[in-house]
Amino acid sequence: GGVVPELSSRAHLQIIVPLLKEALMKSNFKLKDIDVISATAGPGLIGALLVGFTFAKGLAYSLNKPIIPVNHIEGHIFSGFLMEDKPEFPYLALVVSGGHTLLLLVNDFNDIKKLGTTVDDAAGEAFDKVAKMLGLGYPGGPKIQNAAFQTKEYSIKFPVAELKGPYNFSFSGLKTAVLRYIQKNFSDINFISTVDVNNIAASFQQAVIKALIQKTEKALKNFEVKSISLVGGVAANNPLREEMIKLSKKYNKKIIIPKIEFCGDNAAMIAFRGQKIYESGKKYGLHYSPYPSLPEMYFS
Ligand code: KG4
Ligand code: ZN
Repeated sequence: GGVVPELSSRAHLQIIVPLLKEALMKSNFKLKDIDVISATAGPGLIGALLVGFTFAKGLAYSLNKPIIPVNHIEGHIFSGFLMEDKPEFPYLALVVSGGHTLLLLVNDFNDIKKLGTTVDDAAGEAFDKVAKMLGLGYPGGPKIQNAAFQTKEYSIKFPVAELKGPYNFSFSGLKTAVLRYIQKNFSDINFISTVDVNNIAASFQQAVIKALIQKTEKALKNFEVKSISLVGGVAANNPLREEMIKLSKKYNKKIIIPKIEFCGDNAAMIAFRGQKIYESGKKYGLHYSPYPSLPEMYFS
């Protein structure tokens, strides 16, 4: 019902060499054309991180090129720069992934202020857990989006948590509310009709979007920014993208949402972030190791 760490590391091992070969072939580059090697240093699953990072270190050593460890969340934060139309500093970044929900004020490539975070589950985690409850499978985000797309009904009023921190989020109560609703209304979880599944999915999705939009709007009112960027795996969610675009129009702000392939975890965002760190003059040795719960590096 999710990612199995051991299988994931083995899959990384099997794919990493053919992947590099394919990337070189498709981009028409040779190994000797590469100036810098970036690799994800965390946060993430240790097995997968070790495979990628160790491979990158080997490559850096053999080519005699610098290696740059990249924080995966920072990769997401700047993923809007992979688009033709780029974010303008300062910008508000809403990072929504399977492990993180962060509202950030991004002043510069090396100046990020954390405004809020989730106090419990991440937005993507809530999508995955609710999809599991509904028997929709993994990953939950696209499955919920798809189920919600089949209906025009959003008749269940799931709660949006009110929190002390003005920019904080909470999705655990919402997840429990969905579970209670299912337990109260259906005697057997295996016999919920498609109509009901779609309605629950759509109502849940709407509650998540409402919470994300509310906090982003609050931040827009209180911080002078030039643009907004919606990033991370959950940024692939179409109704969320649409609501964010509406919000940006209301406040007359430029909005950058990466195209779908740059929303979920991807190597392009890690390469971009690594290049920026390299340009800033930072140097790391081959002794550097990945760390599964790497803290948010530059955040203050
Ligand atoms: O950033 P990401 O690829 O990996 C992490 O850093 O966690 O995000 C993965 C998360 C998963 O929870 C997945 O269900 C969610 O992104 N996701 C979506 C959609 N596509 C992926 N959530 C909502 N709607 C989607 N279309
Ligand atoms: Zn991610």
